[in-house]
Amino acid sequence: MTATIDKAQFRKALGSFTTGVTIVTTRGADGKDYGLTANSFNSVSMEPPMVLWSLGKNSSSIAAFAGTEYFAVHILAADQEAVSNRFAKSGTDKFAGSKVARGHGEVPLLDGCSARFECRIAYQYDGGDHVIFVGEVLNFDHFARPPLIFHGGNYGLLLKKADETDVSATFGGDWLGNLLGRAYYQLLMPIKADLKDKGLRDVDYNILSVLSMGDGRTAHDLAQLVAIAGYEVSDDHIQALVDQGLIRVEGQGQDRTVHFTQEGRSYAIELLALGKSAESDAERELDYREAQVLKLLLKRVIRSTSDGLPVHWRKEHFWRENNIWRDDVQAARA
Ligand SMILES: Cc1cc2nc3c(=O)[nH]c(=O)nc-3n(C[C@H](O)[C@H](O)[C@H](O)COP(=O)(O)O)c2cc1C
Repeated sequence: MTATIDKAQFRKALGSFTTGVTIVTTRGADGKDYGLTANSFNSVSMEPPMVLWSLGKNSSSIAAFAGTEYFAVHILAADQEAVSNRFAKSGTDKFAGSKVARGHGEVPLLDGCSARFECRIAYQYDGGDHVIFVGEVLNFDHFARPPLIFHGGNYGLLLKKADETDVSATFGGDWLGNLLGRAYYQLLMPIKADLKDKGLRDVDYNILSVLSMGDGRTAHDLAQLVAIAGYEVSDDHIQALVDQGLIRVEGQGQDRTVHFTQEGRSYAIELLALGKSAESDAERELDYREAQVLKLLLKRVIRSTSDGLPVHWRKEHFWRENNIWRDDVQAARA
């Protein structure tokens, strides 16, 4: 006797099993190409190499797959959501616009995926309202692109768990402030080493940073912006950088303005390039999307904590046309 099961709940429960997404293709006996999106794919055997997937009996492709000898499984990459949706829609020309190569038995092979398996059908089993196909793998390609994920009826991206033992063993555990502070401190280490070599201090770095966002501001503005980083700028600090040949001061008293010298500007660009290279090193364990996600989430944290910020912290108040973050940086990196 078959147990009575609430279909919607059953589907929901099954959806909690996270899978990748594949497109399975074949060449029908009628000489036409067939394919559909399937997440029922799984590995079966290493020796001989075998995989399986299941096909709904009401699929328009059922006759083609039941009567073929070969099929190909494409494990989709993270940017292939549109292709996945196209192959999940019955009754359309799914292959239109796709670059197709030919595999065993003229089976259509799609590109842009993360991995691809060419198979010969070894077994077919009845599986209720589905047919289970077990294929022997004849050939495979591994392109190692980040995968598309499917969970609870939604697409997702893979986010690898960090090895937390190392980081949380340090002070403050998981408190966001500590994680951000430590990541920032470590990111700045190569810059700090370079400053030290030149006999410069953290406050000097902050003065150069503020000028790099726009040159020729008043000493008062400069001091106000450096104060954001917790440093008080004194006349001695400014004089020390003048003596080093990195900045020059124009005018007198309240109205005096602070400018980069040519040497100071070049050094600030060098520091920027060092920072960018430290960023690349820091992102070594992240793929492109993870790095984007990290920045996006940090921007959200910044937005949600921005109430009550002093006006002079707003970008429109300190960002100037002559900042060095644009062309010069591109030139320094070229
Ligand atoms: C993420 C995802 C996974 C799917 N997995 C399967 C599957 O494993 N087997 C299946 O028969 N249909 C699956 N489908 C549904 C088929 O892709 C869909 O019914 C398609 O229209 C069948 O096309 P056809 O009728 O042209 O064969 C899935 C759909 C999506 C979006």
